[in-house]
Amino acid sequence: MAQAFKAVKVTDSVHWVGAIDWNVRNFHGYETGRGTTYNAYLVLGDRITLVDTVKRPFAGEMTARIESVIGDLSKIDFIISNHSEMDHSGSLTETMAAAKPDRVFASKMGQKTLAAQFGDALKVEAVEDGATLDLGGAKFTFRETRMLHWPDSMVTYYANDRLLFSQDGFGMHLASSERFNDELPEWLLEREALKYFANILLPFSKVVERALKMVGDLGVPIDVIAPDHGPIWRSKLDWITGLYGEWARQKPAAAAVVAYDSMWESTHKMALAIGEGLSAGGVEMRVRRMGPSHRSDIASDILECGALIVGSPTINNQMFPTIADTLTYVRGLKPQNLLGAAFGSYGWSGEAPDHVAEVLDAMGVELIGEPLKVEYVPQDADLGRCRELGLETARRLVTITA
Ligand code: FEO
Repeated sequence: MAQAFKAVKVTDSVHWVGAIDWNVRNFHGYETGRGTTYNAYLVLGDRITLVDTVKRPFAGEMTARIESVIGDLSKIDFIISNHSEMDHSGSLTETMAAAKPDRVFASKMGQKTLAAQFGDALKVEAVEDGATLDLGGAKFTFRETRMLHWPDSMVTYYANDRLLFSQDGFGMHLASSERFNDELPEWLLEREALKYFANILLPFSKVVERALKMVGDLGVPIDVIAPDHGPIWRSKLDWITGLYGEWARQKPAAAAVVAYDSMWESTHKMALAIGEGLSAGGVEMRVRRMGPSHRSDIASDILECGALIVGSPTINNQMFPTIADTLTYVRGLKPQNLLGAAFGSYGWSGEAPDHVAEVLDAMGVELIGEPLKVEYVPQDADLGRCRELGLETARRLVTITA
């Protein structure tokens, strides 16, 4: 089986030696409907450097791809760990055991987080932010990108081939046979890059803006961006960095998402009426029932919308479990610049819309009116109030985004 896995040449001296995870569908709560890749890279100078490793179950695949280039892991002289999360460090210890590298590098925080995961005995050297090392003629410059998206994160610039190893940055969860951006359709790249940004990087939007400036300030030419997930960017670098800048600003759009669930279809009817009001008001609307829709899709919606309207029936004095799940998740993503509202049908007591509104308020969402409640099944007048909520939201969105 090992024979099946080959490296892919990226530049004159860099080979992709990662792994393709066709089957992962849940990445710590983020639905990865198209799988992912764990990218690792082999840099061939007078000596040999491995940049990042892969998730532990994929160590064999990475090893086989490395062997397809250099024959034996023991030829690896150095390892650079840009990011210590397990999808990139999970096979570090067994790779170190097989390769016996002279030196292993990480950021100062990476040295700590690797030790916290694998024990103090792990021999890892910390590199200073901004330091440059010549490893057998291969020149690497390290820049810390703390909280993108872990405290240890750093990127490494490889001057020889004008290539930036960007770890999670500019990555996406997309398993494919293609390794390069220009082999895949632009709509797919944008969709999955946006979803990745929304679900992983959104809470750190300000840090993204600073990191983009920092990369620009490096003052070095970059021809290739090689992330730790998804395709390698060997063209359209301005396009993807431009999208990152746009997403990080979180400018509201004239669009709204209605996320809801329903017990006996009453909150469902309310959601549809709100959506019709939004549409009649001239804004794009998306109506998403949780269950068929996933929390990580709502995260993408939020990045593309200016309003989040959430509906929940009341069950035993609480909001519906699917709505609690979604709100807990999106609250952690700290979205900015959103309008919002809460609604729901109830039979007994009707606290859920109030609870939803409390969470939205705590998120900094600007609420439009009081929570909209309907006892039992909405009648025409109730649906008229729902439609009016949609219209009012649309009016506010049109004004804000004009
Ligand atoms: Fe792909 Fe933050 O690990």
